[in-house]
Amino acid sequence: MNMSTYDKSQPGNFYAVGVGPGAADLVTLRAANLIRSADVIIAPRSRMTEESLALKTVEDLIDGQEVIDHVYAMQRDIDQTMELWREVTEDVCRRLQQGQSVVQITIGDPLIYSTSCYLLSLLQERLPSEQIHVVPGISAFQSVASRFGEALTIQEDRLLIMPATNLAQVEEALEHCETLVLYKAGKQVAALADLLDRKGLTDRARLVCYVEQPGKEFATTDLRQAADGRHGYMATVIIHIDRQEWKTSNP
Ligand SMILES: C[S@@+](CC[C@H](N)C(=O)[O-])C[C@H]1O[C@@H](n2cnc3c(N)ncnc32)[C@H](O)[C@@H]1O
Repeated sequence: MNMSTYDKSQPGNFYAVGVGPGAADLVTLRAANLIRSADVIIAPRSRMTEESLALKTVEDLIDGQEVIDHVYAMQRDIDQTMELWREVTEDVCRRLQQGQSVVQITIGDPLIYSTSCYLLSLLQERLPSEQIHVVPGISAFQSVASRFGEALTIQEDRLLIMPATNLAQVEEALEHCETLVLYKAGKQVAALADLLDRKGLTDRARLVCYVEQPGKEFATTDLRQAADGRHGYMATVIIHIDRQEWKTSNP
């Protein structure tokens, strides 16, 4: 049970907390302690998803904290997106003023394609930095890489992370790194398979959907196996393009 009775004379703190890819035992100790002791947990989820994966991941740590199930629409328009998060910012600032401790949980890491990025940037305009904290989480690409045990980078290799949404940009990126990580790959798998065939990189892709989700996880080295898109939004692809030539001495 969360026994926190917050001190109204002191402003509270905000924590953007990464809870990892979805497995309870990949939540860091720091994240778990903050979630347990928080007054309020904000659990964002898109209107398209029935439940918050982040909240499900930490459900065993919820006992008495107020939980705000924050449903948001997926927006491409940055102004509309920021408008939505401005409302949340107002609410967070009001709660902090009352001395509450507010934790926003997010899947993976809070600084990688996360709603925390919007909230953090707005809070940073309003609050002193001492009141704002970020707790890193294991990102999806790290978990996906762990499924295959292949190095992401060695020595001088470049690692590039981007969404799979714009295929022309993906094609260009293949020329600028040794390892390419593609988030939001769900709907693009078939087109990615075509692109890699064209580039002679067919056997270099690794795909995992719903990594760390028992009963849902699907991993393959053959993109065609997931090309029908049935595995959904939670799909990450790693393309091992090449290696930089190893340097024999320091520059
Ligand atoms: C909004 S981003 C969240 C990224 C997250 N903050 C992170 O650090 O991993 C959603 C994308 O993350 C990736 N993702 C998140 N969780 C995943 C999982 N359990 N399995 C595979 N990919 C995942 C997918 O590429 C998905 O489209």
